[in-house]
Amino acid sequence: MKVAPSMLSCNFALMGEETEKIEKAGADLIHLDVMDGHFVPNLTIGPGIIKALRPYTKLPFDVHLMISDPLSYIDAFADAGADIITFHLEADSDPDETIEKIKSSGILPGIVIKPKTPAEAVFPYLDKVYMVLVMTVEPGFGGQSFMSDMMPKVAAIKEEIRKRSSEVLIEVDGGITADTASVAAKAGADICVSGTGVFKAPDPAKAISYMQSL
Ligand code: DX5
Ligand code: ZN
Repeated sequence: MKVAPSMLSCNFALMGEETEKIEKAGADLIHLDVMDGHFVPNLTIGPGIIKALRPYTKLPFDVHLMISDPLSYIDAFADAGADIITFHLEADSDPDETIEKIKSSGILPGIVIKPKTPAEAVFPYLDKVYMVLVMTVEPGFGGQSFMSDMMPKVAAIKEEIRKRSSEVLIEVDGGITADTASVAAKAGADICVSGTGVFKAPDPAKAISYMQSL
């Protein structure tokens, strides 16, 4: 799998250096969690901070929007330097319009689903997106436990992608550690997001290379 460390678990006072360090540790992507205190009960970072981080790495920015009205903010995140933007199917914006807006900004679009949203909900968008992100915790906070009961959902989406001979990638996010990463890889995940599992590991580079070997 590819590994996208979530900056939610880094030292926020040193975000630039932490980004450089995690690139040196072998990360494939940088996962940035944007929360609005409305769609989820937490507040994190916005486009200003993402723009400030952009010069610190050449790695792609994987921006996960946990906000109620993603469509209104695509321009701001495009300007900030996002390479991939994922937004929740459960948010208020029209999914097709949001996908089109992301694409027209030259960014790769992805759809995210919360644990209670079924696999089938993403099927109508599979031919339009670059990635499907399956949450393996309720979005909002780092450090929660991995929900292994999401694995049949990952497998069902993978099967549908295969049936369509499509190249859409599946990303998993929440509670990914060395142990749970292998479960997610077996179910069909292509990319894993890991906050605590990488940043709080005794050796982040080792944690990343192990997950990449799965
Ligand atoms: C949760 C975020 C995740 C989170 C993952 O809402 O989307 O990206 O940072 O953190 P861990 O790996 O600690 O569960
Ligand atoms: Zn995330």
